[in-house]
Amino acid sequence: MTDADALTQAGLTHADFTRLPQPGPGVFAAPLSRPPQVGEDWLEPAQRRYSAEDHRIWDELYARQMEVLPGRAASAFLAGLERLDLGRGGVPDFAALSAQLGALTGWSVVPVPMLIPDHVFFWHLANRRFPAGNFIRSRECFDYIQEPDVFHDVFGHVPMLADPVFADYMQEYGRAGWKAMRHNRLKALGALYWYTVEFGLILEPGGLRAYGAGILSGPSEAVFSLEAQSPNRIMLSVDRVMRTDYVIDDLQPSYFVIESFAELYHQTVERDFDRLYRSLPPGFTYANSAVIDVDDLLHRGTQEYALRGGRGSGAVPV
Ligand SMILES: [Fe+2]
Repeated sequence: MTDADALTQAGLTHADFTRLPQPGPGVFAAPLSRPPQVGEDWLEPAQRRYSAEDHRIWDELYARQMEVLPGRAASAFLAGLERLDLGRGGVPDFAALSAQLGALTGWSVVPVPMLIPDHVFFWHLANRRFPAGNFIRSRECFDYIQEPDVFHDVFGHVPMLADPVFADYMQEYGRAGWKAMRHNRLKALGALYWYTVEFGLILEPGGLRAYGAGILSGPSEAVFSLEAQSPNRIMLSVDRVMRTDYVIDDLQPSYFVIESFAELYHQTVERDFDRLYRSLPPGFTYANSAVIDVDDLLHRGTQEYALRGGRGSGAVPV
């Protein structure tokens, strides 16, 4: 079989996004073992029944975020929270939430047991389904969790899916996964997700705001990303961020800023990813704290927080 035949068989050349793509053995992806209760789509049979304590945890997390987010979260995010009534109390019911979201932008929210493989994630996004963790953190892990839970996924991500342009961007991101697998460049596409969907900032008429779920669902990063002296704030270029390493377990040394969701959408759909992937090396070119000469820089960070040792060192996020 030729390479082209293998790609066709894996569903990666013709873009039939209804079919679950198979990345093939040569593509580097995180090894995850599928729990017995889920099929190839990794979806749980039903949303979990949350206890009264679980619902209280949601409510406390919600209240804590709302103390810092007004004036810091993107207006699209705050509008989405309101339209989907995510503050009505308790962990939202996915069926009701999907009905509301479906009426606005055609997206739905589906339960998954844990982090899922990239190719399955892309397939759901390409079909306007957002996979959300089917569990909530315990009180012992109130501030920081490694696996995204229902609070991170639903509070952090779902409000943005009520914005029609951002909703289209997320679908295009899922579709872009097919090409990333074909070229074995999942890390590069992952960096784009990281610096937009998880940790993105936007310039609004009232000033800089956060729209990334990783920022909006945590206790300290909204203030750090927008107001601290440590991190760089750089205008986003898709090519640039896809070459940039990132931190998964601490505050980011750099944030990338967009002017509008329409600009982000166009930068992504109009870029020829096949050509870009051919020019990208397998690893990252730029360190996560780097400033390069072509950057349109809003703020050059001192990196003081990272230089003092970051999380676990007692360094103050300044
Ligand atoms: Fe996330």
